[in-house]
Amino acid sequence: MDMRLPQQTTTPPSELVGARYAQVRAHTLALAAPLSDEDCGAQSMPDASPIKWHLAHTTWFFETFILERLEPDFAPFHPAFRVLFNSYYNGVGDKHPRAQRGLLTRPAMDQVRAYRANVDARMMKLLADTTAAARELLHPLVTLGLQHEQQHQELMLTDVKHLLAQSALLPEYVDAPLPPASAAAPLAWLAFDGGLTDIGHDGAGFCFDNELPRHKQYVAPFQLASRLVTNGEYLAFVAAGGYFNAAHWLAEGWDWVRAQGLKYPFYWRQDEQGAWTEFTLHGEQPLDSHRPVTHLSLFEADAYAQWAGARLPTEAEWEYAAAHAAIDTGTLHPAAATDGAGLQQMFGQCWQWTSSSYAPYPGFQVAPGALGEYNGKFMLNQYVLRGSSCATPAGHARASYRNFFPAGARWQFTGLRLARQP
Ligand SMILES: [Fe+2]
Repeated sequence: MDMRLPQQTTTPPSELVGARYAQVRAHTLALAAPLSDEDCGAQSMPDASPIKWHLAHTTWFFETFILERLEPDFAPFHPAFRVLFNSYYNGVGDKHPRAQRGLLTRPAMDQVRAYRANVDARMMKLLADTTAAARELLHPLVTLGLQHEQQHQELMLTDVKHLLAQSALLPEYVDAPLPPASAAAPLAWLAFDGGLTDIGHDGAGFCFDNELPRHKQYVAPFQLASRLVTNGEYLAFVAAGGYFNAAHWLAEGWDWVRAQGLKYPFYWRQDEQGAWTEFTLHGEQPLDSHRPVTHLSLFEADAYAQWAGARLPTEAEWEYAAAHAAIDTGTLHPAAATDGAGLQQMFGQCWQWTSSSYAPYPGFQVAPGALGEYNGKFMLNQYVLRGSSCATPAGHARASYRNFFPAGARWQFTGLRLARQP
């Protein structure tokens, strides 16, 4: 996950930061708890990282960007970890190749757990310094480190899902049944007036710098679907031959779908009797027509929208509409929208593809130093997703949040909400 500088208007007291640090770090370990050490070492594709690497890299962040700068008599836990667990910070130095993270059988999981415990103890010592000077320097960096770790918490779930899906055993991440969803409420179209609006973070609490600066943008009147597109609705597109009709697809999307021979969403499967299933973190499950369709690429989301006589929202439309939406936190699989009133499922189910390229806001400036290295460098050939997903940890979502992935990415919990002209 990329790294962006923290923006905070107030400095919270030390004890709150320390408690937050302990809570976020413990949650990361809890996410790894259902997995064996063998599960944690494997890498299923270059885009996904082993759980062991996530555990170490999030720790590396605190060691490299905080302890190395601020700890008196700093000495690394292990000098080689600076390279092994550097994701892509050229300003830090060499990196172990991304596609070869699964080859790191050493350090073993026990050593990575010891690395986490060591860095946590050293961080708590630093956080015990409650002087104003320490707080001013330390707290924004700790906040950034925790926000970074939360991004990796989501990646841990999507990466392990991709890994488990490689096995014919179709193993479960959690040994708990996924109950049948209640009926989804009918899709309603909600009208928004738009106008000259303020887009970007409003300054209250943390944000990444890609959410800044807040700026004016004109949004024409538009309509937004009250909920996400469901599996049942998307299945109608599949059944209508949507994957075989170029008329619905962007040119690059059509090349992409044909080159891979795709016929339906990632993790879907149809058995010999014609029954559809979906691989989930609860193992393989019957495809539930009421739950939101997920793991779509931008190409698939856009093709469905074209077929349905609609379009994807722009990120400005989405943010404008989300101003008063409830920020829900999900579980391990998207749930149905059973409430028919107002705007549903903006947060906590599926990230929502927009038609907006991931580009800098007007006046955006790349911050100096290694931590600012990536703020602008990802702003090419990717698309913005809004909202949050069932894998996003509590407290990480907000209306101005800009997630981004290439148009063909399918392993995140990515879905779609339709928009249309009035
Ligand atoms: Fe990272």
